[in-house]
Amino acid sequence: MHAGRALATFYQCGEPYRLDARTLEFRGTSAWGERVLPDGGISAHPKVCPRTGDLLFFNYSKQAPYMHYGEVDRHDNLVHYVPVPLPGPRLPHDMCFTEHFAILNDFPLHWDEALLARGKHKLAYHADRPSRFAIVPRRNAPQGAVRWFDASPTYVLHWLNAWEEGTEIVLHGYHQATPMPRGGYDNKGATLGPERYGPTLYEWRFDLATGRTTERRLDERLLEFGMINARYWGQPHRYSYNMIAHPGSFLFDGILRHDHVGGASQQYLFGAGRFGSESPMAPCHDASSEDDGYVVSFVTDLNEDRSECIVLDARDLARGPVARILLPHRISSGTHACWADASELSPATAFEGTQP
Ligand SMILES: [Fe+2]
Repeated sequence: MHAGRALATFYQCGEPYRLDARTLEFRGTSAWGERVLPDGGISAHPKVCPRTGDLLFFNYSKQAPYMHYGEVDRHDNLVHYVPVPLPGPRLPHDMCFTEHFAILNDFPLHWDEALLARGKHKLAYHADRPSRFAIVPRRNAPQGAVRWFDASPTYVLHWLNAWEEGTEIVLHGYHQATPMPRGGYDNKGATLGPERYGPTLYEWRFDLATGRTTERRLDERLLEFGMINARYWGQPHRYSYNMIAHPGSFLFDGILRHDHVGGASQQYLFGAGRFGSESPMAPCHDASSEDDGYVVSFVTDLNEDRSECIVLDARDLARGPVARILLPHRISSGTHACWADASELSPATAFEGTQP
């Protein structure tokens, strides 16, 4: 949601489509989409800063400089757009941000360069090359060169959050143990089974003073598609709501709440034959704490051949749903989802910003 509209984007880049969030009616492509289309347009996973209302986005393509970073203000004007040059075509999926920086990436999983030169697309993983992270100044920060940090080789589909801590930038996301499964990829969906690539919640720290990277695993379980209270994006968070991966396919068995300060975790499992989607956190209007609100998910029930929306108390997931809303028809087992407050659904509503 940005500038009062839903924004539909594609992970291999394209035009940003505006939709009425209530009716899903097409409302056109934003004018700035034309400006960035020669560079690929906009990738999936742009982010909206909860303090400024700015849309932070990136794109990538097979033409040099291969990647760009941009910002669109809350009135839908492109106000910042810079190249972030890469050594060649890459396949970044997601981005993250802090108060002053956007974080983009160059992972060693990308198109095989020799085959690409012949017009063929095949993924290659270079376990002998580092992961690289770009720290890009946001428009509100002093403008300077993009800073690059090396880290151990991996691939990351999704980030959880990032923030600044002293001279360090802290980044949380889902590190893959084996980005290229043994035997390579197949086209049967089994490739996406979490046991094949082993995503776990992980922390990277980039020290702007020393140029050093430190990294550590935060949890041993196979998790992905994490959410936090979106009012805390770019700031330190305490609680995350992570999807528990189902072995063998791209499905989720449940939600795990992780307390990053206290260390405790609790979970809710959807039950046999029931699979959830990414589960956003919906904070209460008068929230008294970060976890004062609800976690919302779409569950597809293969036993009953129907789907429902479930609402869980964010502080007590294990209790099970406090509300279930049966949907009029079955939907595909979900992947991404987002939560928007009703006040965000109209372009006539001025964005006033929110504070944790
Ligand atoms: Fe994604």
